[in-house]
Amino acid sequence: MKIKHNMLKMFMKMVPVLGAGIYFSLLFSSCTKNNPDSSGVEYMPDMYRSPSYEDNSVNPNFADSMTDRRPVTGTVPVGFWPDPFPNTPDGWTAARQYLKDPYPATAEVQDQGKAIYGIYCVHCHGKEGEGDGPVGKKLPGPPPPYSGPQLKSYTEGEIYQVLEYGGAYGNNLMGSHASQLTVDERWKLIRYIQVLQHHGDNDNAGGNATSASAAAAK
Ligand code: HEC
Repeated sequence: MKIKHNMLKMFMKMVPVLGAGIYFSLLFSSCTKNNPDSSGVEYMPDMYRSPSYEDNSVNPNFADSMTDRRPVTGTVPVGFWPDPFPNTPDGWTAARQYLKDPYPATAEVQDQGKAIYGIYCVHCHGKEGEGDGPVGKKLPGPPPPYSGPQLKSYTEGEIYQVLEYGGAYGNNLMGSHASQLTVDERWKLIRYIQVLQHHGDNDNAGGNATSASAAAAK
């Protein structure tokens, strides 16, 4: 009994010393000398820090030390397609022939195109596409009518190029609308421009004669 009592007494005396020891060892281990920004010992560091390299970070595994790699030569990144119809004479010739409107020429699509026309084109090109919109009339060279000899024979691909790059003909008063119109909007709009190209066609013979002479004039 006596011995046990003495041991308990000794243990009680040591408690503050032991406590202080644990306290100081925790206190000092929470800062590491090497990195003052480190929060110290981490329990399972992989839980906090991913071993993968972050975007734009330095990477010792590559000779140029860049983590971001360039696409392999000859590959096309997902969701990107290089413009096969550039703003060059060859690009326009190819677009004229091969660039096709994915939308059918239905009344519904034409109506949607008409609404877009009313926002972006009507003030210059006019309600019926005659080139007599309130702004168009004041231009030094008003837009020619879509149904006239210059524009009647424009194909859907060619009109698309005009919206992408601006007009190829005239005084270049027709600017690019690429930043205003999505690709979908352009194609819907083009279905309506085609309606206007045939505005005033009374009989097929007349229409064909006009477009044939326009094609010959080019
Ligand atoms: C600021 C006035 C203006 C606006 C807005 C405008 N156009 Fe034009 N557009 C012109 C003029 C002017 C021409 C004649 C070309 C020239 O003089 O540069 C033209 C020409 C064109 C041509 C023939 C292009 C060529 O090869 O020269 C097409 C097709 C055309 N416009 C379609 C449109 C469509 C579709 C819209 C609506 C998205 C539109 N335009 C908006 C002024 C405008």
